[in-house]
Amino acid sequence: MTKKNISNGILLFYILGILTCYAQDFGYDGSEGPTHWGDKYEKCVGKHQSPIDIDAKNVRFKDFPPLIYDNFDKHLEEVSVTNNGHTVMLSIDKGEIPTISGGPLNSTYGFSQLHFHWGPNDTLGSENKINHHSFPLELHIVMYNMAYSSFKQALNFKDGLTVLSFLYSVSHENNTRYNQFEQALDAVHNLLASKKFRDFVSLGDFVAIDRSAYFTYEGSLTTPPCSEVVTWIEFKNTIPVSKEQIRNFRLLYNKGGHLTHNYRPVQALHDRIIYYNRGISNHTSIMSTSWAIFAVFFGDRIISFFV
Ligand SMILES: *[C@@H]1O[C@H](CO)[C@@H](O)[C@H](O)[C@H]1NC(C)=O
Ligand SMILES: *[C@@H]1O[C@H](CO)[C@@H](O)[C@H](O)[C@H]1NC(C)=O
Ligand SMILES: *[C@@H]1O[C@H](CO)[C@@H](O)[C@H](O)[C@H]1NC(C)=O
Ligand SMILES: *[C@@H]1O[C@H](CO)[C@@H](O)[C@H](O)[C@H]1NC(C)=O
Ligand SMILES: [Zn+2]
Repeated sequence: MTKKNISNGILLFYILGILTCYAQDFGYDGSEGPTHWGDKYEKCVGKHQSPIDIDAKNVRFKDFPPLIYDNFDKHLEEVSVTNNGHTVMLSIDKGEIPTISGGPLNSTYGFSQLHFHWGPNDTLGSENKINHHSFPLELHIVMYNMAYSSFKQALNFKDGLTVLSFLYSVSHENNTRYNQFEQALDAVHNLLASKKFRDFVSLGDFVAIDRSAYFTYEGSLTTPPCSEVVTWIEFKNTIPVSKEQIRNFRLLYNKGGHLTHNYRPVQALHDRIIYYNRGISNHTSIMSTSWAIFAVFFGDRIISFFV
């Protein structure tokens, strides 16, 4: 064996080591479960953690400038879909990177990856909740602040990341915009399976709903290392998918069998404020109703509110 071969061998061993560690480092049950994450990752016991239970009676109205989505409507040239043992994740290998700016963001954020959280049945599975209510599935589109050189760099800054977060509701019909993703999901059932796909559906297809109303708050990654660097944008309207489509996520394997659930329980809000962007472009017609009276008496606090 030449010196180079040996060092390559060591490198490979090292990489495999990292992958193995990565896959076993944390989980959602027992001694690897969320209550133990803080033992190894001190940030996981911080005061600005995610997810949270959004109490719609305790939000502050704020009309942010419009969110500007760039490259969200273009097909993705080449993507990788991976079962990393914690979730199914989509990253972009080739082609233009979708970006977002505006809303609560002070900078332009570029796509890093998207992934999902789900539960053992349709009564739970989302990470964030609204009014104590869980949803069966939640999508996280993770974007990093392009003022920093990379996703990894951005992790060191308070305004490093934004997560565009979408909740799902059960529909009687299959959501056909997810057909291609369902095929990808089927191809990566095995732990650490990863497949490449060309000409993949656009990000816009994943999130083709009215996105004007959203909650926003400062929080963290919901998996270790739980860095408190995330501006959360939690859209109020849900994406409809069928029971069958949700069930497909539970067919993925992790090391202990099927990955039936991968949601972190909600964390305390502490001193944080949740803002609510109503997304009403039509102020005049709305203010002519009883909302005006409401606004006069109660300022920017919502007193009674149904989501
Ligand atoms: C954007 O800037 C404002 C004003 O400086 C600040 O209050 C807010 O926290 C910043 N938002 C983010 C997401 O960094
Ligand atoms: C859903 O799963 C949870 C957690 O395992 C369980 O407590 C609950 O009873 C289940 N609900 C239904 C309707 O199966
Ligand atoms: C949804 O798709 C699944 C799997 O492709 C199929 O078995 C099912 O019949 C479809 N449901 C509807 C309502 O079209
Ligand atoms: C504003 O509201 C009126 C009455 O509800 C409606 O006819 C109109 O289309 C709305 N305009 C916009 C820009 O939404
Ligand atoms: Zn997530």
